[in-house]
Amino acid sequence: MKLENKIALVTGANKGIGEECVKQLLEAGAVVYGLCRSGCSVKHERYTCLMADVRDFAQMEKAFNTVLEAHGHIDVLINNAGLGYFAYCEDLSLEQWHQLFDTNVSGVFYGCKLALPSMKKQGSGHIINISSIAGLEGYQQVSAYCATKFAVRGFSDALYKEVRDFGVKVTCVYPGSVKTDFFRHSEHIKAHDNMLMPEDVASQILFALQTPDNFHNINLEIRPLKPRG
Ligand SMILES: NC(=O)c1ccc[n+]([C@@H]2O[C@H](COP(=O)([O-])OP(=O)(O)OC[C@H]3O[C@@H](n4cnc5c(N)ncnc54)[C@H](OP(=O)(O)O)[C@@H]3O)[C@@H](O)[C@H]2O)c1
Repeated sequence: MKLENKIALVTGANKGIGEECVKQLLEAGAVVYGLCRSGCSVKHERYTCLMADVRDFAQMEKAFNTVLEAHGHIDVLINNAGLGYFAYCEDLSLEQWHQLFDTNVSGVFYGCKLALPSMKKQGSGHIINISSIAGLEGYQQVSAYCATKFAVRGFSDALYKEVRDFGVKVTCVYPGSVKTDFFRHSEHIKAHDNMLMPEDVASQILFALQTPDNFHNINLEIRPLKPRG
């Protein structure tokens, strides 16, 4: 897809991978909407920040309707918003479990549900769902987060088969550790320079978005070459 003047929506756009996707989409000429719970730092004539908590369907619907009323369609949706809690299973609270699933799984479902009607109608569109290598393999003390990211993988794999005949692409992205604010809830893991850089993950997402119409990058696994330095 050529991104110039395309309508793109990114969830969790105020920092980390989401913010880098916003910046690179703007560089590529797209009209970009960021869905955030808190304010965005990005200022650009083609950028609009919309307030929405991805766990709340009514807030998501309001934000998506703002975009659809302005443009009639959405070309690109990056379901990026997510969070992690890391602990032994018995130490995870019920609140943490539900927060993880409401954000990482329901938020992705809400985004796809709201974007797909216009994408299917126009016969094109590209949804990027951010899973994790924790959606490909399990790690101790990461059980709940892994469960959410395995769910995103299963959802995305089924969805791409469901919508490909409508001209809509679904790409699931599996990054290894990325140097962002993501590890703020972890006692043991701290972001460091041997992690992937968010701008490099974003550049791979932009690459997948800009492939030719009949080229579909379904799964994108990205890992640091030397994860522990
Ligand atoms: N960093 C990694 O190592 C890594 C690896 C693999 C996959 N991922 C995935 O990559 C995605 C982006 O993570 P990141 O590394 O960029 O982390 P980050 O810097 O913590 O950014 C996460 C973003 O998601 C937003 N968010 C969280 N809950 C939200 C909610 N309920 N409603 C709206 N926005 C919400 C955050 O907004 P607030 O600032 O308001 O909280 C923030 O903008 C996540 O899905 C994460 O699971 C990360």
